Amino acid sequence: MAKGNKVWEIKDTFGLENLKQADRPLPTDIGTEDVLVRLTATSLNFRDYLMVMGKYNPRQKLPLVPCSDGAGIVESVGKNVTKWKVGDRVLPIFAQKWTAGPPDMDSLRSTLGGPNDGCLMEYGSFNENGLVATPPHLTDIEAATLGCAGLTSYNAVINFGGLQPGQTVLTLGTGGVSLFAIQFAKMMGARVIATSSSDEKLEKVKALGADEIINYTKKTNWEREVRKLTNMRGADLIIEVGGAGTLPKSMMAIRPYGTIALIGVLAGGESNISLYPILMQGVKVQGVIVGNRFDFENMNQAISHNKLKPVIDRVFSWDEVPMAFQYLQSGKHFGKVTVSWS
Ligand SMILES: NC(=O)c1ccc[n+]([C@@H]2O[C@H](COP(=O)([O-])OP(=O)(O)OC[C@H]3O[C@@H](n4cnc5c(N)ncnc54)[C@H](OP(=O)(O)O)[C@@H]3O)[C@@H](O)[C@H]2O)c1
Repeated sequence: MAKGNKVWEIKDTFGLENLKQADRPLPTDIGTEDVLVRLTATSLNFRDYLMVMGKYNPRQKLPLVPCSDGAGIVESVGKNVTKWKVGDRVLPIFAQKWTAGPPDMDSLRSTLGGPNDGCLMEYGSFNENGLVATPPHLTDIEAATLGCAGLTSYNAVINFGGLQPGQTVLTLGTGGVSLFAIQFAKMMGARVIATSSSDEKLEKVKALGADEIINYTKKTNWEREVRKLTNMRGADLIIEVGGAGTLPKSMMAIRPYGTIALIGVLAGGESNISLYPILMQGVKVQGVIVGNRFDFENMNQAISHNKLKPVIDRVFSWDEVPMAFQYLQSGKHFGKVTVSWS
């Protein structure tokens, strides 16, 4: 076993230029219910980038190892661990203490990649309840995309969206969350209207199964297009990743009593939005915060049964981590930006 634990960390000042490699001691004193995992891959989320920049939580304590997502192999187990054995392939859950049901404030403070150290490290120690099994048909790189973007999307589409076959889902942009939403929606036999700023990316979402496509930079009144495409009824479910900049249009594109799953704020987080469409049309605006272990296990069952493959845009090496973050920030990606080091 290696003597040290290589990590990428923000030591004392936020900023991508301050994200550096460091050596920490290998966690040898793992608790009786803990599991030492040799991590092999991570995927980057927009949250991770904001965390590195000090924009997600400027009061985040440093040093911090970023990254909400990871995948790896069990290296050793504490003496009371019953769920895992050496060699098992595992994925750490995003909110380590959130195992089932609604979260409490304590479990929401147990998230990886801030406030807790994240997965951009060679070895991590996790409580045995803070892990799920890796879907066997996926590589670690593929599986490292599931814990944050995948689970958020699954909860939005399946648990909060309650999507039925034949219903219409509108996805905004082609980030990690939206692409998973297209895949889950197609898995459920639903119809997908997908938007993007890029015609090239729209061709790719068609190949992924999207039924209708809209370039939101060319058709800036995309909410009208959605209404036309749904015989003026509106979409049943909207995967809202834009936030303040897109929510007013989503309110026009949703059907009465439809659900807007409010997930991201890529186009702003503050707004003076009119409440009338919510009141007068019974629209449900549902915030989504990733999900718990129970939902992660259910999602993995669905992913395994349907042999769903996450869309990977690029795999960066350990030494290329800052480049990977820059690439994510550029918005050029289609699918998940990942890092692998095994
Ligand atoms: N609530 C939660 O639990 C949770 C979990 C995961 C992520 N999130 C949030 O959800 C958002 C999306 O996350 P992600 O991981 O999918 O991000 P991502 O992979 O970085 O998505 C980037 C893509 O979003 C699209 N986009 C950007 N601005 C847009 C706009 N104004 N309208 C429509 N699309 C736009 C662009 O797609 P095109 O290039 O195709 O235009 C861009 O390539 C982020 O704000 C993230 O923080 C929240």
